[in-house]
This record gives sequence, structure tokens and C-alpha cells, in this order.
Amino acid sequence: MSNWKKICLVTDIPVLGSRCIQRPQGMDVAVFRNDQDGVFALLDRCPHKGGPLSQGIVFGSSVGCPLHNWTIGLCTGQAAAPDEGCTPKFSVKVESGVVHLDGDELATHALDLVAPVAGPGCKETVALDKA
Ligand code: FES
Repeated sequence: MSNWKKICLVTDIPVLGSRCIQRPQGMDVAVFRNDQDGVFALLDRCPHKGGPLSQGIVFGSSVGCPLHNWTIGLCTGQAAAPDEGCTPKFSVKVESGVVHLDGDELATHALDLVAPVAGPGCKETVALDKA
């Protein structure tokens, strides 16, 4: 059973951009919006060298990493071939224009992955309890 938490309105997320959600533990989650108002959530960490996917450009159902331009699928977190790797994805529910993430996943998923020591940070982060 899911423990859905209200995060924001779809319209709070820039089209072809993202909004970062800060978790009590673990790295931020980037919530993306494409040009069809599709909403996707991935750990804000590229599977290549940990780049901030939240600062990438969304196209179709993918995001281009801002560091070395890998293409990451927003539905799966999988890097497009020939690159290899996967970033953890998070469940999303959109209801009446409101974006929800699973609170249990936010509390437990991918806590072992850490941010790179150097590099650009998240462009905009909203604490989970302030979302
Ligand atoms: S860190 Fe994302 S492509 Fe290198």
C-alpha cells in the first residue's frame, strides 16, 4: 500500500525542467515535467559520475545530463545505449494536477547513494515537509 505525499502542483514544475525535493535522509529527488505534462521522478544523480540530472534539459521522456550529456530515460532511470547505468526512479501519482510521491520510497529508497564531492548542486530544492 502506498503512502502518497503531496509534493506540488504540476504547474509548479517548469516545463522541460524539474524541481528538487529534499529528503530527511539520502540525496534529493528530482521531479521532472515534459512538454506533455508528464511527471517523472528520479534520484538527482546521474549514473555516470553523479551529475545533477535536475539541471539537465528534458526532451520527450528523457533528460540530458548537464555534465557529459548522457541521455537518461525518465520512466526507467536507464542510460541510453551505448552508455550503461541506471539511476533509481521513484513512483509518481498525479491527481487533479497535484503531484504525489510515495512517502515510504522517499524514506527508504537509494539511501546508499551519495552526491559527488565536487560539482554543481541542485538548482532549487524544497524540503519535503515544506512541499
Ligand atoms: S555525470 Fe552525467 S553524463 Fe557524466
